Amino acid sequence: MGEFADAIASNASAEDLAAIQLPESFRAAFVRQEDVEMFSGLKTQEKDPRKSLHVEEVPFPEMAPDEVVVAVMASSINYNTVWSSIFEPIPTFDMLRRLGRSGRYWAKRHELPYHIVGSDGAGVIVRVGSAVRNWKIGDKVTIHCNYVDDQDPTGHDDSMLSYDQKIWGFESNFGGLADFTLVKANQLMPKPSHLSWEESAVNALCNSTSYRMLVSRNGASMKQGQVVLIWGASGGIGAYAVQYVLNGGGIPVGVVSSPDKVDLLHQMGCEAVIDRKAANYQFWKDPATQDESEWRRFGNDIRKLVGDDPDIVFEHPGRQTMGASVYVAKRGGLIMTCAATTGYMIEYDNRHLWMKLKSIKSSHFANYREAWDANKLISRGKIQPNLSAVFPLDEVGEAAYLVHRNLHEGKVGILCQADKEGQGIDDPEFRDAVGEDKITLFRRHSEQVAAERSGI
Ligand SMILES: NC(=O)c1ccc[n+]([C@@H]2O[C@H](COP(=O)([O-])OP(=O)(O)OC[C@H]3O[C@@H](n4cnc5c(N)ncnc54)[C@H](OP(=O)(O)O)[C@@H]3O)[C@@H](O)[C@H]2O)c1
Repeated sequence: MGEFADAIASNASAEDLAAIQLPESFRAAFVRQEDVEMFSGLKTQEKDPRKSLHVEEVPFPEMAPDEVVVAVMASSINYNTVWSSIFEPIPTFDMLRRLGRSGRYWAKRHELPYHIVGSDGAGVIVRVGSAVRNWKIGDKVTIHCNYVDDQDPTGHDDSMLSYDQKIWGFESNFGGLADFTLVKANQLMPKPSHLSWEESAVNALCNSTSYRMLVSRNGASMKQGQVVLIWGASGGIGAYAVQYVLNGGGIPVGVVSSPDKVDLLHQMGCEAVIDRKAANYQFWKDPATQDESEWRRFGNDIRKLVGDDPDIVFEHPGRQTMGASVYVAKRGGLIMTCAATTGYMIEYDNRHLWMKLKSIKSSHFANYREAWDANKLISRGKIQPNLSAVFPLDEVGEAAYLVHRNLHEGKVGILCQADKEGQGIDDPEFRDAVGEDKITLFRRHSEQVAAERSGI
């Protein structure tokens, strides 16, 4: 372990942490500008993050006055790291260039021939900039990825509406998949005391996204008793969505693609689950033509399970599912969309939208308040981390490959300065009160599935 990791493991004081010198360089996962054409001509599925993600030493960047340096103990794989690593839909260097040339203070630093990726993190503050007021060295934090200038007036109704809003570690450099990161003080949230570093690190991006989509007034403001159709219900954002619907008295209908995932959702308390692979829906007859009779079959399956059409559709697969999502939503229902994993040029039958007065509403990450409230629910044990697997930083490519190939459940954690799992739990009594069975459900389930597959 390094000096900071040793000090953090022994609960060193703020003074001791401040006395340790920052290294001149640190280990980080990054993609390279020179590689952006490496997958030219390949299909999306053939592009391999293991080839494009590098883990090497990078020079320590200078810290801005409104930033802190965090010694990152753990981070996570988000789908945006998959996008960065396959250079789709555009290489993220284009965004770094735009940021670098924005003329904003300290922005120039971001325009580099390497992009340190990663939009989640949990760790300890080891330096604070001169303009940081509410945080100090030694604070244990999780980091949310809404990267905004809090002196920008356009962000003061909802910071996601700031003209300059970006996602840290995707549209900015110096992301969380590294031993150190630089983040704005307005990205910091308290680390949940009952969780380990890796359990704390996987939540902020996906949990906050699902919170805004379903709970916030900026999203669906879900009410008790509403039926919510959740695509990818055991995936990164989907598994938090299931928890929010159950917590809020809604009725989740989860869509997944294997019997193992059906079992996992049942264990979460989601009774109505559809295995889309087993049902073999063919929403598209060919790449250009959709099949309304298949949308109808899907809608009937939902009605058979819950006796009603969905009030809300939690939509993110995009091109493959949007036609079906618009069709099956209830009269007056809402399709909440935040992504388009299978293609962003969307087609749906507009007659089903306007004749039945349905709406499509978009959502993107979360503002600080939403991320904070979502983090508080984790800290209070009301929402659980959906951590299913953990990799060391040096194997970040393997971890991103799993997510790209849809071979994972929930969230995949990455150990950065933490050298093993299970560290960083400060309140074991509260952990017991929440219950190990709830906190580690995804981890145990994926281990059980792996054991069954290998015949153990
Ligand atoms: N705008 C934002 O702020 C925001 C935030 C977070 C994520 N996102 C985006 O949201 C998407 C999902 O992210 P994630 O973290 O949940 O990823 P994930 O962990 O890979 O989960 C996605 C799920 O989608 C399902 N899926 C994949 N292909 C499908 C298809 N053809 N039809 C139906 N379902 C399909 C899979 O479930 P089954 O195979 O089990 O059905 C998978 O579990 C990504 O595109 C990501 O970039 C956006």
